[in-house]
Amino acid sequence: MLVVYLSPGFPAEMPLFVRGLAAVGATVLGVGDQPAAALPADAREALHDYLQVSSFGDEAGAVEQIRRWLRGRTVDRVECMWERLMYLAATLRESFGVPGMSRAQTEIFRDKESMKQAVERAGLRVPRHARAHSMHDAWQAIERIGFPAIVKPIDGAGSQDTYRCNDRDEFQRALERTRHVDVISVEEFIEGEELTYDTVCAGGRILFENVAWYRPKPMILAQNPWISMENIVLRDMYADFPRPGVELGHGVLKALGFESGFTHMEWFRTASGEAVFGEIGGRPPGARLVHAMNYSCDIDLFTGWAEAVCYGRISQDVSKKYNASMIFKRAQGDGIVREHRGLHELMQRFGQHVATIELTPIGQPRRDWRKVVVGDGWIVVRHPDLGACLEIAQHFVQDLTVVAG
Ligand SMILES: Nc1ncnc2c1ncn2[C@@H]1O[C@H](COP(=O)(O)OP(=O)(O)O)[C@@H](O)[C@H]1O
Ligand SMILES: [Mg+2]
Repeated sequence: MLVVYLSPGFPAEMPLFVRGLAAVGATVLGVGDQPAAALPADAREALHDYLQVSSFGDEAGAVEQIRRWLRGRTVDRVECMWERLMYLAATLRESFGVPGMSRAQTEIFRDKESMKQAVERAGLRVPRHARAHSMHDAWQAIERIGFPAIVKPIDGAGSQDTYRCNDRDEFQRALERTRHVDVISVEEFIEGEELTYDTVCAGGRILFENVAWYRPKPMILAQNPWISMENIVLRDMYADFPRPGVELGHGVLKALGFESGFTHMEWFRTASGEAVFGEIGGRPPGARLVHAMNYSCDIDLFTGWAEAVCYGRISQDVSKKYNASMIFKRAQGDGIVREHRGLHELMQRFGQHVATIELTPIGQPRRDWRKVVVGDGWIVVRHPDLGACLEIAQHFVQDLTVVAG
């Protein structure tokens, strides 16, 4: 099994997937734009060979360089989990005749308007939506969509340039603030809880599935730097609360004809229990959510994914044993971390439920959460009972402070 893996060293979790491929016996050839010496150790050790391309910006040039380098070798799969290189991966698949997402399929997973059209055609609930290339388009769209609405880039990430608008003035302001964005999406604002539906698939079958619940919603978090973010992997995905999203997710994967690999869908749950589609990526979720899934089942999905894409199965027991709540802390104050206030008491009381905890060590500078997703702390607590898990997590949100100054 020969796998070409794009960007084995970046973003942060890629080396773990590369290691997973090597662990299931694949021969992994890495292609990246960083020098081999700069690759994280996990990736370097797992790679059979590595090509540093001159630039990913020039797609045709990169394809040609890769083609020359691969001459004489038969590629079984091309894998890529970084949004930026998804089209390049599809082009390589098409030019080497390798199975997996084509360029046309990739567009559906990259373009928020195309994906909503495809989901809507299958009769599934999406927010009212439109693509806008100009102010004129946007004003036309809002007449039909109504308020409250949301304005965001058509291929955005991390809630950047994303605005809720309650009236015409706010809409005008949002359009001004997104002037630098080429194409925007205008959408009906969906009031509700925000959750994920994630899978690992092979041959169009779902081998692993997952629902996680964001608290607070990602957009609120991006605008309020002091809040600790919590993301809860739910043990019972078929309970009343998550089930509508699981059913929606099944419909979406079918409508999009997804075959193999990770998917990461976001959806809204309205107060009446309706699931509304948000977006979907043909890749794993970021921000350590794969780790949280691992803690909820006591498995290694980095290897599980690799086995799925190479051999069409996951042999680990993927049943969920815990609810796992993952919390990111942001330090209070500027400068050097001085204290982990409340930690000792919390560990005494709840230590047995803490699956992992990493805080910026005392004496080190606080981190910039805009650049480092975990900010100044990463904690996973878990419990078979959801109520107990939420309560323990709440203590780590409220009673633990990383104090800088
Ligand atoms: N139609 C919508 N209704 C309510 N909130 C939305 C809507 N679209 C986006 N948001 C908010 O903005 C965030 C970012 O939007 P999203 O489409 O997920 O883009 P990305 O995660 O790629 O930045 C979402 O997580 C959600 O909190
Ligand atoms: Mg999103």
